[in-house]
Amino acid sequence: MSAKSSIAPAGLAQGASAAAIPFVDLQAQYRRIKSSVDARIARILDHGRFILGPEVAELEAALARFAGGGEAVGVASGTEALRLPLMAEGIGLGDAVFLPAFTFTATAEVPVAIGASPVFVDVEAASFNLDPASLERAIADVKRAGRLKPRAVIVVDLFGLPADYARIAEICQRENLFLLADAAQSFGARLGNVRVGCLAPATAASFFPSKPLGCYGDGGAILTGDPERAAVYRSLRMHGAGADRYDIVRIGTNARLDTIQAAVLLAKLEIFADELASRERVARTYDRLLAGKVGLPPRHADAASAWAQYCILIDARDRVKAELEVHGVPSAIYYPKPLHLQPAYARYGDGEGSLPVAEQLCERILALPMHPYLDEPTIGRIAATVAAAVAAGA
Ligand SMILES: Cc1ncc(COP(=O)(O)O)c(C=O)c1O
Repeated sequence: MSAKSSIAPAGLAQGASAAAIPFVDLQAQYRRIKSSVDARIARILDHGRFILGPEVAELEAALARFAGGGEAVGVASGTEALRLPLMAEGIGLGDAVFLPAFTFTATAEVPVAIGASPVFVDVEAASFNLDPASLERAIADVKRAGRLKPRAVIVVDLFGLPADYARIAEICQRENLFLLADAAQSFGARLGNVRVGCLAPATAASFFPSKPLGCYGDGGAILTGDPERAAVYRSLRMHGAGADRYDIVRIGTNARLDTIQAAVLLAKLEIFADELASRERVARTYDRLLAGKVGLPPRHADAASAWAQYCILIDARDRVKAELEVHGVPSAIYYPKPLHLQPAYARYGDGEGSLPVAEQLCERILALPMHPYLDEPTIGRIAATVAAAVAAGA
């Protein structure tokens, strides 16, 4: 039986050619904000301050306001937003940086890039985020081995859901570790009454185009409540500049956010709260239609996710993915392998079986289309196709 004939979902005749569904729909968003984006970019073409123009400072103030306090420092990407805070703490050779194995490679490549060693930690099945108990074990192991000095923890809010900051911050305080939040997927999320950006001493946001708040190229920001740290980040992004650009007070880099990207983000911030509410609406509709049929994404009673991704857990994931593709439903695997099993990181990990929850999640995870412009009939079509594909293998 072909994949197509095995799963014709209700309402979709076999062989019917329904419109292709985008995984994210940046065009629909652009139609909504076109006049604001175009006007803001035209203004920059007029004033000509393409590097650190006034829009960058305006965006930084707006991001800090949105997050609920502190300062924001615009940088060139989410990866730089992770790298600069570690550089600022003087982390390097001989230092251990603890991070979850179930994340994008950028989280781990940054410690390696500055000479430090990533130490992979398992995640919780209930949240997909860093497991505090596994973190405590990893810290104890590193201290016992005596080869590396524990220095920092990078906590990742995977798919947009904030991690367990209270417990992780308590461990960091006790162990004297710097806590860096990788909020590449979660800017806009909230834990209790506190927004991402104010949950850790430093928070890295990514504005990669497909992120909940994305620009039209690469971009990122570091958020911090500490003005001294913010000043160091501003210096580091600008070749270590001091009082002026030819007063070099530290070794820095070029990690500035472009003025044009800042302008795009200012236009998108105008609708960001509304888009976050739409993402929540999409997630709730999926939850309702898929409950009992697949493993639903984690929720936390006291948290609001930014819903960067809507990820389900299923058996026979690769077969289901192929069947969805036949029916014009795109999906993605974040992530097919935990980082400790990737060849490039093998020397930092303990191999297969060492971080079982991350390993099992990578076998079963599947991301469905998620963006604020998904309408109810389309969500219905996706959910029906998923349910039929899953049932076909049962
Ligand atoms: C968890 C995580 N960390 C870091 C990054 C890096 O962000 P950027 O692509 O903006 O450098 C990403 C982006 O995909 C991410 O998903």
